[in-house]
Amino acid sequence: MASSGGIHRETWGSKTGFILAAAGSAIGLGNIWRFPYILGENGGFAFLLIWIICNILIGLPILGAELAIGRGSNRNPVGAFKALMPGTAWWLVGFMGLITGVIILSFYSIVAGWTLAYLVKSVTGVTVSYPDAEASALAFENFVSSGGQIVIYSFVFTLLCMIVVSQGVKSGIEKWSKILMPTLFILIIILIVRSLTLKGGGAGLAFLFKPDFSKITLQVIVMAMGQAFFSLSLGMGVMITYGSYVDRKTNIINSAGSIMLLNMSISILAGLALIPAVFAMGFQPSSGVGLTFHVLPLVFSKLPFGTFLSIIFFFLLSIAALTSAISLLEVMVSYATDELRWSRPRATVIMAAIAFLFGVPAALSFGVWSEIKIFGLGFFDLSEYITANVLLPIGGILIALFAGWVWGRARLEAEIKEGNPDLKFYKVWLWMIRIVAPVAVATVLVTSLLPEKTEEAQVENNAQPDTVLVTETPGVIDSSGDQPTSAAEPSTE
Ligand code: PHE
Repeated sequence: MASSGGIHRETWGSKTGFILAAAGSAIGLGNIWRFPYILGENGGFAFLLIWIICNILIGLPILGAELAIGRGSNRNPVGAFKALMPGTAWWLVGFMGLITGVIILSFYSIVAGWTLAYLVKSVTGVTVSYPDAEASALAFENFVSSGGQIVIYSFVFTLLCMIVVSQGVKSGIEKWSKILMPTLFILIIILIVRSLTLKGGGAGLAFLFKPDFSKITLQVIVMAMGQAFFSLSLGMGVMITYGSYVDRKTNIINSAGSIMLLNMSISILAGLALIPAVFAMGFQPSSGVGLTFHVLPLVFSKLPFGTFLSIIFFFLLSIAALTSAISLLEVMVSYATDELRWSRPRATVIMAAIAFLFGVPAALSFGVWSEIKIFGLGFFDLSEYITANVLLPIGGILIALFAGWVWGRARLEAEIKEGNPDLKFYKVWLWMIRIVAPVAVATVLVTSLLPEKTEEAQVENNAQPDTVLVTETPGVIDSSGDQPTSAAEPSTE
């Protein structure tokens, strides 16, 4: 138990447990279904290089800063800023993170609900029974517009999150991460082996890794940064919260490096698992929801042991979504237990209920509420757009500025070097958090907020700035330029 200011907090049972839990937060829907198609659509290998640079230049410093703020304060994101800079308004950064978390969790649970439903459909053999792309797309559209079913599946998913989080940090989040993350890894390896041994998969590899530097545009850079950002769960306090459970012996920067590498590897592995299979079966990777829920079921239906592979895939995706969603819930629960002094079970139930209720309009925005639009977007798209494109980058910049310029150089250095007194690259890290990261993220933010719906903004059709959950169902704007019924047709290339 660590204690600070009279608040007794749990700590992770082991460094491995902490890294797996943090990697579990980072590795989510963003890696497994978003990364492969974004990579393919934004220049393949060229995108990959920029994305790796973004992970190192932006991801690593902000991740380190969040973990340091968490451990240095021993608090939830709101309490952390209050403890480190009492009497200032910095706690609002943590509060904004909380709100962002509620919104992300609300739409995340919906997609996770779809994933659970497709897991069930895989077990019953439905996912491999679609005769063609149109039937598969239509089945998905009918399903997501059936408000009631979606709400039930999201509810089941929320319950799973509640069960894990209510068990606490060590015996809930850490224990489950230690079981689920290795499972996820094994499942993805099975899929890769299958995918790479398929005849014709080479075209997929070329699609993923053929350097095409002519495709690098400002927009592609924005995409790469956005992807790195969302995927590392940065900018809203997840890593502050997880950092607050880290003991003083742990080397924060090393841990941040491991988390980043695990997160990057799973993204690349997901690309290797999916894209070659899609090509081998004669499809083109279409975007987002289309790839996962329209094309993949068809790919599985054409493969030997398709039912088995379909079950593995949707199970994998459910696990990835679960370990990310529990981190979102934990941010709110840690706030309620620290600041409001609620018990963990009470905090879990109330906070999960808030996020769930918040998600209902988003779930219904595919069906009965599809007419309701704010700024031209349905609830789902609006929630997704505002969090990924606006709130997370703003949070990231503020966290970087706080750590680099406000907290105090000596205090920052002491916290970062705790557990690693002879950290060699501290100076480099310091200037990354002070200058490189805030400037880079500010560029992402400004670029993604520039008016984009211009005639010639064709590129942005397939290159949405850090848009995470692209939906393509009737009644929902088709922001990806990819029609539901064209899931098996060549993509926007
Ligand atoms: N990183 C998660 C993913 O890639 C999403 C997430 C974002 C989780 C922000 C927590 C906070 O899917």
